[in-house]
Amino acid sequence: MANSSNKYGRVFNFSAGPANLPETVLEQVRDEMMNYRNSGMSVMEMSHRSKEFDEILANATSVAKELLGVGDDYEVLFLQGGASLQFAMVPLNLYIKGQPIDMIHTGSWSDAAIKDLKKGFEMRMVYSGESNKFTQIPKIETSQFNPQASYVYLCSNNTIEGTQFKQFPDTGKVPLVADMSSDFLSRPIDTKKFGLIFAGAQKNLGPSGVCMVVIRKDLAERGDEKLPIMLNYRTHIKGGSRHNTPPAFGIYVAGLVMNWIKAQGGLAKMADHNAKKAAVLYQAIDQSNGFFSCPVDKAVRSDMNVVFRVKPESKDSEALETALIGEAKKAGLIEIKGHRSVGGLRASIYNAHPMAGVEALANLMSDFHKKNS
Ligand SMILES: Cc1ncc(COP(=O)(O)O)c(C=O)c1O
Repeated sequence: MANSSNKYGRVFNFSAGPANLPETVLEQVRDEMMNYRNSGMSVMEMSHRSKEFDEILANATSVAKELLGVGDDYEVLFLQGGASLQFAMVPLNLYIKGQPIDMIHTGSWSDAAIKDLKKGFEMRMVYSGESNKFTQIPKIETSQFNPQASYVYLCSNNTIEGTQFKQFPDTGKVPLVADMSSDFLSRPIDTKKFGLIFAGAQKNLGPSGVCMVVIRKDLAERGDEKLPIMLNYRTHIKGGSRHNTPPAFGIYVAGLVMNWIKAQGGLAKMADHNAKKAAVLYQAIDQSNGFFSCPVDKAVRSDMNVVFRVKPESKDSEALETALIGEAKKAGLIEIKGHRSVGGLRASIYNAHPMAGVEALANLMSDFHKKNS
């Protein structure tokens, strides 16, 4: 059922991705759909080498660099193949033979990256959260890294397990690579600590089909000439993300979303808003006397994906969760089911998710608790 308190009757969407986008951006896309700035066509229909698209790409690149606080020593790329292609592209380009990759394994998405590393790259496990079911992320000291590693790899926000690095390890001179798919541009980061960041757009940034890669230029030089052309970062740097036809519409929307982030006051404002939203849900969980519970160590609870269970020790747990999902749906709060690999419940509340949605869910949880205790 739609949320009738807004003019479009939209639902509150808690999907882990694709996720909701700022309404003002959707309105702008709608307004520009039939005739983008007097071009006589939509962005979907225009040449990716047109002057209009030159501007779209230049805007998306410059606002990304501004938000991330990086200069010309970094390249911003808009690629295809999702975040998942980066699990292969990163080692293909950055791995140096005889210098194993240092891996920080914090959940299902670092596991996905490991699966590709097993196809011919040496890797050393610096930390694995398997024994605590990925509910914790400890502080990792510089001394734990191999100074000869090709790079250190981590996933900054674990979309499925609901954990998030609150501070990043200091890897010294070893480049740090991060999959930031589910918390990209949700908070300020010291980008210069990273050699490469990648993020699928469909959570905090825009429609699916675009993956942003932020890479320190000197690292791109590691890629062997023998790599397939499309898998070499240098190809995309040289082509300015237009070696082939890029995901033009997605880049356009991502640029508008980044303009929106800037207009909201930038990453610090985003972080503040995101922390406040997350706090509403964690409070609803923590103050429920165990009716709801979050398995994640409080110190590393994600501000993006709030995972929780209803009475996990009880035999009625799953039935209660199914009932809550049904009631939420009826009230226009959709996609609160946990990932199929872990079960339970999950509310994903990325940048564009409004506080009103979070409050509506917290109220629904409180009513549900009263009815079922
Ligand atoms: C942290 C993380 N990495 C990677 C992916 C995979 O992204 P894609 O579907 O764009 O390949 C996801 C998708 O949910 C994710 O959450």
